Amino acid sequence: MTALPTDQATDLRRLMADHETAVRPIAPKARAAQVIAIASGKGGVGKTSIAVNLAVTLARRGQRVVLIDADLGTANIDVAMNVHSTHDLSHVITGERSLVEVAVSIDQNLSVIAGASGIAGVADLGPFERQRLLESLGRLERETDVILLDCGAGISQNVLAFAQTAHRLLLVTTPEPTAIADVYALVKVLSRTPVTPPIGLVVNCAMSIREGRSISERVSSVAARFLSVAIDDFGQILRDENVPISIRKRCPVVSLVPRCSAARSVAILAERILSGDDGALPAPGFFRKLFGHFY
Ligand SMILES: Nc1ncnc2c1ncn2[C@@H]1O[C@H](COP(=O)(O)OP(=O)(O)OP(=O)(O)O)[C@@H](O)[C@H]1O
Ligand SMILES: [Mg+2]
Repeated sequence: MTALPTDQATDLRRLMADHETAVRPIAPKARAAQVIAIASGKGGVGKTSIAVNLAVTLARRGQRVVLIDADLGTANIDVAMNVHSTHDLSHVITGERSLVEVAVSIDQNLSVIAGASGIAGVADLGPFERQRLLESLGRLERETDVILLDCGAGISQNVLAFAQTAHRLLLVTTPEPTAIADVYALVKVLSRTPVTPPIGLVVNCAMSIREGRSISERVSSVAARFLSVAIDDFGQILRDENVPISIRKRCPVVSLVPRCSAARSVAILAERILSGDDGALPAPGFFRKLFGHFY
């Protein structure tokens, strides 16, 4: 991935240039994008780090990826990826900007949409604007292979809405007992909602694969027994000092140190996601369903 220029005007010119490619007609796809929401019970467990590195890895594997900062409280993907965007998804929803204008193109396969504070504004749109917005978002879905949502931590209505509308939910925990207890609490709340997508658990910052696996097994067996919820083991990411270093350098670790253990773990996670892509995705589109949650 190339570093983006920091000058705002350059970014805007670049956005305009991207407009040309972003709206060009492409071969129709048989189905909409796979939408993966990444959430956690406790904050600071590595969601953003996983989302950013997964997005870059999937894009390198030829997937057309859109990474959306869905953390309405403390959106920071733009900082993590060193991109500059004065507008976000909320401006699309209120009709002030088009999707193309807010999406920052990182490379041919990867775009980032900054956090959408005030997404509830969609409720104020008239039928015409709403339809136009849904069409543009629907088009994004059709022209994208994977939409990754970096959700906030904890149990908020927003997280529940994103989680319920996604096709897959990746829950992240660390080995800390507090993070495990909080992810379990999130699963408990999700188990009481009408729809819960398939859940995969990622244990981040594990000291060993063995430790990560054992935590994953514990969480899934308790969730199966007491909540009747199935949780799949979606892998372990070892504690790796290259991750905080890469964050300070504002460069994804998979680009900075491609062979480090965290980067290799993310590659395995990407593989798992691609191999699980069985095409059995529900209709209607993700955004259409999502907005249903905000009315
Ligand atoms: N595998 C890892 N090894 C070492 N440190 C890690 C690893 N993954 C994440 N971290 C560190 O954990 C911290 C939190 O990461 P991150 O911001 O991705 O978490 P988050 O879940 O998105 O937080 P929030 O809930 O605030 O959005 C960062 O400082 C990061 O460097
Ligand atoms: Mg985060």
